[in-house]
Amino acid sequence: MEIKTFYHKDTNTFSYIVYEPTTKDAVIFDCVLDYHKASSTISYDSVEEVIDFLQQQQLVLHYIIESHIHADHLSAAQYLKSKYPLAKTAVSTQITLVQETFSKIYNFADMSVDGSQFDSLFADGDIIEAGKLTLNIMHTPGHTPTCMSVLIEDCLFTGDSLFIPDFGTGRCDFPNGSAEQLYSSVSEKLYTLPDKTRVFVGHDYQPGGRELRSETSILESKKHNIQLTEQTSREEFVDFRTARDKLLSAPTLLLPSIQINMQAGLLPIAEDNEVSYLKIPLSIK
Ligand SMILES: [Fe+2]
Repeated sequence: MEIKTFYHKDTNTFSYIVYEPTTKDAVIFDCVLDYHKASSTISYDSVEEVIDFLQQQQLVLHYIIESHIHADHLSAAQYLKSKYPLAKTAVSTQITLVQETFSKIYNFADMSVDGSQFDSLFADGDIIEAGKLTLNIMHTPGHTPTCMSVLIEDCLFTGDSLFIPDFGTGRCDFPNGSAEQLYSSVSEKLYTLPDKTRVFVGHDYQPGGRELRSETSILESKKHNIQLTEQTSREEFVDFRTARDKLLSAPTLLLPSIQINMQAGLLPIAEDNEVSYLKIPLSIK
């Protein structure tokens, strides 16, 4: 099994293609669309790099997986699916919670909230076969209710549940997020995996200007994660995470991202002038 890592600099996001070189079976985690907020334009430069690699390696893409519903970038899932129509978009079964909450926030009265925009919904404990690749699905809610980690052989893809040890964990202040749940997800699920498990994270923000890192291990996380080691109590973590989250501002692309991502990356249908529009609620304080 091989892993090809892509880094989207504008949003500090990692995408991973996991593939079996002999059989060409592949899945991808968290592919990113380029969205330029000031001009409200999208482009496909980043996902084209992903497609170039898939083509060079002649890979058979089985699943286009979202580790959760991202609030900081738009998903390129549908663009990728347009090139690989047999690949299935996939997300946690908990997508329904996000859809129920955010369809109200955006007032999308006609939107289905049963997850049917995605081809596959992965439940906790599912074992998914993608050709010769076997995916073990672990729901790890906390950062969002849809967060899942996926174990493939000895490689764990954690999305935003666990970052490189010097950055810690994902924020827990989005709707239906929970520091309590994140503590359980990390301490009681991820930290019970073998120490040598390789951990591939969803973002890296290079604290202190250090070099970019996408990989840690369960052992390194248990020993050195600055927010949540194996010694950290539930109360300590929840107090820390709650206080930290109060200081964070909303992600720049929160409102454009979630309306697209919770519908599997489907862009809004063009209006009669052939232009698509995002919907941004206006809050008055
Ligand atoms: Fe996230």
